Amino acid sequence: MQRIEINEALKKVKHPQKVVVAFVQVDKDRYNPITLEWFMKTSIDPVMFAISIGHTRFSHKCLQENRVFNLCFPTLAQVEFVRISGTKSGSEIDKMHFIEGKWFKGRYAGLPILKDAAANLECEVITQVQSGDHTIFVGKVKYAWLGDAPPLTVAELF
Ligand SMILES: Cc1cc2nc3c(=O)[nH]c(=O)nc-3n(C[C@H](O)[C@H](O)[C@H](O)COP(=O)(O)O)c2cc1C
Repeated sequence: MQRIEINEALKKVKHPQKVVVAFVQVDKDRYNPITLEWFMKTSIDPVMFAISIGHTRFSHKCLQENRVFNLCFPTLAQVEFVRISGTKSGSEIDKMHFIEGKWFKGRYAGLPILKDAAANLECEVITQVQSGDHTIFVGKVKYAWLGDAPPLTVAELF
C-alpha cells in the first residue's frame, strides 16, 4: 500500500459501470440529452435517483429552471447517440436531431422516452446539493419504462 495522487487511485478502482443519458427540458417542447456516468439510486421507497451535473453544462441551467429529468438507460445500439450527448453541448447544437422518430413523450412531464432503450425512468427533482463543481439533483421516479436489450456500460462506450 502506497500513497499516490488521488486521480491515479481513482483510475485503478474504476469498475464496469453503466452509463445513462438524462433528458432535461430546455423550454416548452424543447429537450436536451446529456450523457452521465455519475448517477445512483438513493432511496427504495419512494424510488429516487441522484444525478451529478457540472455547473458549466447547459443541462445544469435547464435543471435549475425545469425540475424534471428522464433517466434513460441506453443500449449498445444507441452508442453513437450516447457519445454525441457526452461530447456536444445543447448550447451549440440540438442533440435531439440525432434521435428523430426514435422517441415519444413520457407520461409525467412529456420528456422524451427513447423507444429502444433498456429502460427509462421519469423523475421529478425533489432536492439538490452542491458538490464542488457539480450539483447533485435528486429525483423521485414517477414512471418506469422497460425495453428488451441490456443497458450499455462505460467500457462499451470507448
Ligand atoms: C462517459 C461520459 C460520462 C459523463 N458523465 C458526466 C456526469 O456524470 N456529469 C456531468 O456533468 N457530465 C458528464 N459527462 C460530460 C457531459 O455529458 C458533456 O459535457 C456534455 O456535452 C454536456 O452537455 P450539455 O452542455 O448539453 O448539458 C460525461 C461524458 C461522458 C462521455
